[in-house]
Amino acid sequence: MNLDEKVDIKENSIYNLNPDLLSILLYDNTTKRNIIWATDMYENRGFGYETNSQITIDKITGRLGQVIKPRIKKSKQEQDKRIKVKAEVFTPSWICNEQNNLADSSWFEKMDIFNKSEGTTWKTNKNKVQFSNNKTWHDYVDSVRLEISCGEAPYLVSRYDTTTGDIIPIIDRIGLLDRKLRIVNENTNDKNEWYENVLKAYKSIYGFEWQGDSLLIARENLLYTFMDYYIDRFNEEPNIQQLKEIATIISWNIFQMDGLKFVIPNSCKNEIKINYTLFGEEKIENECLGCKKGNIKTHNGIYVKIMNWNTNKQIKFLSLFNRKK
Ligand SMILES: C[S@@+](CC[C@H](N)C(=O)[O-])C[C@H]1O[C@@H](n2cnc3c(N)ncnc32)[C@H](O)[C@@H]1O
Repeated sequence: MNLDEKVDIKENSIYNLNPDLLSILLYDNTTKRNIIWATDMYENRGFGYETNSQITIDKITGRLGQVIKPRIKKSKQEQDKRIKVKAEVFTPSWICNEQNNLADSSWFEKMDIFNKSEGTTWKTNKNKVQFSNNKTWHDYVDSVRLEISCGEAPYLVSRYDTTTGDIIPIIDRIGLLDRKLRIVNENTNDKNEWYENVLKAYKSIYGFEWQGDSLLIARENLLYTFMDYYIDRFNEEPNIQQLKEIATIISWNIFQMDGLKFVIPNSCKNEIKINYTLFGEEKIENECLGCKKGNIKTHNGIYVKIMNWNTNKQIKFLSLFNRKK
């Protein structure tokens, strides 16, 4: 892997590694189809690039292998348009770090566990992380985290700073998943134990995003993070079976959703159909009541499903907010 690919992961590389791997990363477990573009930035490329079209392998590989680029590699004009249309501004790594440190201070009831922030950078604490207050390292690995509107997922993984493109060495990474992987590294001895706990770490990390290109990049960033840590730990590459297993968890946990409605973006329908009958015209209005009344429970779009890995059952994301205390 060359340095440039550390930032701009090439869909051709994933495809060449194994075509199924790219299929898994493009899969939407709610619709049982592929994720959609959900942005009009690609429409001028023609058929298959429309806002509500699925992102398919043929549209992003081969000679089209450069179509999807991370925000840092997009043109200034494209970046500006995305700010206007979808408020796409990414958070610098040092701010993600400070916020993730806050979450950890609350979990550990202690400050500066993984690093100490210093202005717009941080100093990594290289000592083995200690656990107390009846909390174990397993509890930390299992504790659930979610990045809302995750873009390229800078709060979850930090292979590069999404605002500068600077590469971050593994030891200094600050994402919520990076922290769990460090804990797994520090507390496991053999390959099986390591891998088993890494699977748990991935199952506990969630993120959602509207725009399909950013979502795919977020998924790729999580997959390449696995490769980085595996190679760093074992001095060899993970096998395809492992990559597919991790990719499958990622495709469940990093999902496409309109975070204001909990449905697949643009899936609510507001149509008026005219039926011609013997007695004249009959107007059938199919209006989304959720959109009309701002009621999160009554959208007629496709409610997103996520996986509850404890029960291995699919649940609606919406159901997380319906629970009685
Ligand atoms: C300010 S960026 C933040 C991205 C990332 N979390 C970060 O901190 O760098 C906002 C992101 O929210 C996404 N977004 C905007 N409206 C959304 C919605 N209704 N549901 C889900 N994501 C949305 C945009 O596509 C964009 O990637």
